[in-house]
Amino acid sequence: MANETPIRKLKLGIVGIGVGASEILPAMEQIPEFELAAAADVNPRVLETFRDRYHTKTYDSVEKLCADPNVEVVWISTPNRFHAAHTIIAANAGKHVVVEKPMAISLQEAENMIEATIKNKIKLLCGHTQSFGPHIRTMRKIIRSGELGRLCALHVWAYTDWMLRPRTADELDINQGGGVPYRQGPHQIDTLRLLGGGMVRSVRGSTGAWFKGRPIPGYYSGFMEFEDGTPATLMHNGYGYFLASELVPWGGQNSRYSEAERAKVRKSLLDGTRDENADKDAMRIGGANESEIRDRSKVKPWLPNDLGILVATCEKGDIRQSQYGLFVHSDEGTKDVPLIGGGGPSRRGELMELYNAVVLDKPIRHTGPWGMATLEVCLAIIESAKQRKEIYLKHQVPAPEED
Ligand SMILES: NC(=O)c1ccc[n+]([C@@H]2O[C@H](COP(=O)([O-])OP(=O)(O)OC[C@H]3O[C@@H](n4cnc5c(N)ncnc54)[C@H](O)[C@@H]3O)[C@@H](O)[C@H]2O)c1
Repeated sequence: MANETPIRKLKLGIVGIGVGASEILPAMEQIPEFELAAAADVNPRVLETFRDRYHTKTYDSVEKLCADPNVEVVWISTPNRFHAAHTIIAANAGKHVVVEKPMAISLQEAENMIEATIKNKIKLLCGHTQSFGPHIRTMRKIIRSGELGRLCALHVWAYTDWMLRPRTADELDINQGGGVPYRQGPHQIDTLRLLGGGMVRSVRGSTGAWFKGRPIPGYYSGFMEFEDGTPATLMHNGYGYFLASELVPWGGQNSRYSEAERAKVRKSLLDGTRDENADKDAMRIGGANESEIRDRSKVKPWLPNDLGILVATCEKGDIRQSQYGLFVHSDEGTKDVPLIGGGGPSRRGELMELYNAVVLDKPIRHTGPWGMATLEVCLAIIESAKQRKEIYLKHQVPAPEED
């Protein structure tokens, strides 16, 4: 129609077109408010595929992408050890930033990132992904409505095959942010903090590295206590002998590998016969297994996947994920409550929070200080495991009021 206002498109550049980017790209393609303006990577194969598919500019460095005046926002999806440096380069170039989880690998790095965003007056969104999803947003809304009384406890458990998926060298080095605590901790911690009000008082954690074929922790568990006394437990076991999706009636073996294939992968990691780089590259843009990753953006029945099974206990009932909504168990029986916005993948929530912040000047919920507080809990789990002591936290910030 002639008098329709054209959509204000946000011009986005991606740095690091890896597996994470293969997951976010389908969501970007589906949202008309976004325009893919450019991408940067050090892998010429993915750059060429990106250029052919999206007909955009590509660069071989973050600096070059950040010098492109057509790019307004930079999505940083490079390995964890680069998150701080790449965020600071983008901020100094005046670009808004979304940084993948974990925000950084140390609190000092997180502080430097926040400082750069303040100095350059740009918006920083810490893209922890899972808590942006409709299940978590709806759960938060029910908790905050008070219909079940006060929140009493939170528990989240994940059993996945994370350790058997192909990994690059940096993902196998804890000093570079490798392993399940760094990579999966932020998802669960961010979610629990959002539901529990944000302010974690202390943490007791434990980590485990139990498989000779992988030199990193594939397990963590933790007990978090919020300032108001609410307890929360979290656990992720990525060794893949058992998958939490098997506990869900509509679930089953939700893995890229069958049980027998998972055993074969473990054997190949032990005898060194796996071509891990080729396996990982196959999951990136243009790779033979990219469709598996792109599929994650489709609306499907909920499964525990990497976040796990989450139960929020209130005074008058429990809330947990159902196939397409949330089960609310109370004296009135079990209700299957529909999700905010009818559901949909978490990545959409992340993108819309970004759009609303940059274009409509709405507040960001997953700010730099929020991401830093999540990282603090993640690091405290690792430190507590070493010291075998409870760790008290200093950088916590409250969950945002606005939803
Ligand atoms: N939010 C989520 O659910 C989710 C899912 C997957 C990955 N991730 C995050 O994405 C990040 C990348 O993980 P991945 O699995 O996609 O790894 P990956 O290795 O597939 O992707 C990283 C990409 O960055 C590129 N790269 C490396 N150094 C670079 C540099 N200096 N400049 C530009 N590009 C560079 C690599 O070539 C690669 O293509 C990690 O921080 C991870 O935690 C998040």
